[in-house]
Amino acid sequence: MSNGENLAGQFTFPGTELKVHRMGFGAMQLAGPHVFGPPRDRAACVRVLRRVIEAGVDHLDTSDFYGPHITNQIIHEALHPYPKNLVIVSKLGARRGAAGEWIHDLTPECLTNGLHDNLRHLSLDAIDIVNLRCPGFASATPGFDPRPAMAVLAGLQQQGKIKHIGLSNVDAEQIRLAEEVAPVVCVQNAYNLANRADDALVQALATRGIAYVPFFPLGGFTPLQSTHLNEVAESLGATPMQVALAWLLQRSPKLLLIPGTSSLAHLEENLAAARLRLPESALRTLDAVGSAA
Ligand SMILES: NC(=O)c1ccc[n+]([C@@H]2O[C@H](COP(=O)([O-])OP(=O)(O)OC[C@H]3O[C@@H](n4cnc5c(N)ncnc54)[C@H](OP(=O)(O)O)[C@@H]3O)[C@@H](O)[C@H]2O)c1
Repeated sequence: MSNGENLAGQFTFPGTELKVHRMGFGAMQLAGPHVFGPPRDRAACVRVLRRVIEAGVDHLDTSDFYGPHITNQIIHEALHPYPKNLVIVSKLGARRGAAGEWIHDLTPECLTNGLHDNLRHLSLDAIDIVNLRCPGFASATPGFDPRPAMAVLAGLQQQGKIKHIGLSNVDAEQIRLAEEVAPVVCVQNAYNLANRADDALVQALATRGIAYVPFFPLGGFTPLQSTHLNEVAESLGATPMQVALAWLLQRSPKLLLIPGTSSLAHLEENLAAARLRLPESALRTLDAVGSAA
């Protein structure tokens, strides 16, 4: 079986030459507790990243505010010089306080400095895709206008330092506004089996060929727990986390996964979910998880 089939097929970001497998990897878990400071076992993080690439994964999601800086430094240590086909996606729009607080910041200074931090720590001249992280954690802030910050990213794109732009924590109206400034190739919002607020957006973006990349696919800081999920997993001889990932892959062909882990065993488990096909009966049972939530 080719990697394409092993990793849930491929997707090309719209209007770009960037093609990735639908099973990717999110690097946030490689920093220390609460995504702040160094990890407990840096060598293990390096091993996880090298296994990610060895398995054929070519979509890596990161940010320089993970650590801060540390996750990107570990990526550099583990993978530089990067495989030619590796698509690195980062995000801008926040910085960290001295005690690890997440400080939302869309000022031109923060966006520009943040981009340069990414380029320096990853040793890159340009980032493949940069997501503009809009205010609101795990949901959009209604009424927020992303256009001024998009204009800053578009300026950095014109300088050749950002190849393509995506959005995070946005609703349909904010995507429309952002697209007045520059093309958008992906949207990264919180979405999983239990958090279905974006159901309509997932469909709408699929129709337009824009990637929907759910963060917290496994529940993030509060891993998914559900009797329905456990039952389906048991009936298929899979783990609940594999079922949660397979469910996302079957939601839309334009949905890309970036589950995060610092554990090699969890990584293998997550990668194997790309080969799991959920029957209709399982999908019906799993629908009840979203309804209950
Ligand atoms: N745009 C944004 O604002 C935003 C926000 C958050 C995250 N993100 C991106 O989205 C990516 C994914 O999100 P996430 O890492 O926060 O959440 P996630 O993938 O839903 O879950 C990660 C958590 O699940 C655990 N886990 C992973 N695989 C597991 C398995 N097979 N069995 C049991 N537990 C497992 C991890 O712990 P272990 O390390 O112990 O496996 C970790 O605690 C991040 O890496 C980041 O790149 C973006």
